[in-house]
Amino acid sequence: MNRKTLLALAEKHGTPLFVVDHDELRRNYKLFRRHFPRVQIYYAVKVNSDPAIVETFYDLGSSFDVASMQEFHTVHRLIAKLPAKQRQDFIWDKIIYANPIKPIETLRELDCYKPLVTYDNHEEVKKIAKHAPHAGLALRLRVPNTGSMVELSSKFGALPGEAVELIQFAHDAGLVVEGLSFHVGSQCTNPENYIQALHLCAGVFAEAASRGFSLKLLDIGGGFPAAYDDSVPKFADLAGKINHEIDRLFPEPIEILAEPGRLLVASAATAVAKIIGKAFRNDKLCYYVDDGVYHTYSGVIFDHCTYHLKAFKRGTPQLCAVFGPTCDALDTISLAEHLPDLEIGDYLYSENIGAYSAASSTHFNGFPPATVVHVNR
Ligand SMILES: Cc1ncc(COP(=O)(O)O)c(C=O)c1O
Repeated sequence: MNRKTLLALAEKHGTPLFVVDHDELRRNYKLFRRHFPRVQIYYAVKVNSDPAIVETFYDLGSSFDVASMQEFHTVHRLIAKLPAKQRQDFIWDKIIYANPIKPIETLRELDCYKPLVTYDNHEEVKKIAKHAPHAGLALRLRVPNTGSMVELSSKFGALPGEAVELIQFAHDAGLVVEGLSFHVGSQCTNPENYIQALHLCAGVFAEAASRGFSLKLLDIGGGFPAAYDDSVPKFADLAGKINHEIDRLFPEPIEILAEPGRLLVASAATAVAKIIGKAFRNDKLCYYVDDGVYHTYSGVIFDHCTYHLKAFKRGTPQLCAVFGPTCDALDTISLAEHLPDLEIGDYLYSENIGAYSAASSTHFNGFPPATVVHVNR
């Protein structure tokens, strides 16, 4: 985003500020669609659940991956005015409840919508059969997450070897398993994770078919990496490799779904913070700013992400640390930035901070989350 605009917005709205560029959201969505023409895009709402962002993707024709009732309602509000049949069709065709573990209360509330939900274990099947018997199922498989920035396979996913038995178990409980899903881990820069996951799924499709279960859909999850730096493989190359294997192993009419999150929103937001303190500690320049890891920079902790800070003013860069505003030493954005000599009241900004940032911001220590401003809506 243009620095002049950012500065003007910071002056106008105050800081900390989180600026979302909807043109960039649209560019990212179209990029994904262009490179994955066979794939139905389910935006993973958890990544940034701001209703304005969800609405922009809705306007583009996106489907949605939700993982809590609140996220479900964020999407549902957009379709609330549709005629009943259209609304129900939207839920069937365009929403997946992709949290393999669901509270009983959630299942009860979801049942009337007859949604597609994921599962990965026997206890979940029993719960779904009892409390949401009208749901369709996608079995989530555990797949390699090697090298991904955020690893998910230790928490979710059935082993491929137990998959067909879990499909049979769901069938015996009166449920229909429509297909498989997986997640290669977030910010996955290793294409092999996708390739191996597709091979594992193809094996399960074949074994399931031999037992009389015809699976119709494959959900390839999220993980598509944002271009945080030059080390990230080109999206076009990654998509080419994935598409090649999809077309070879999962011919039409098998439906292919994906749940991209980070790739769609990371580059669409910029954080602007103000310097509120300055000190020298152990001969190192330390800046204190009015946003931190309990707030927009929460991805430093939860997302294992590194954000660089840039200054609006020019000057000789020097090694410095940047801390957030709270009293906790954990509230450290970076111990190794290169910034010029700046004054209290000057602004710093971080680009590519749209994913897993504002979404996990807290009110810790009495500091509220950053003000969100939408541009190019
Ligand atoms: C089930 C599921 N789908 C999609 C996503 C989005 O992943 P990403 O942001 O890596 O695209 C996540 C993230 O944790 C997830 O858990």
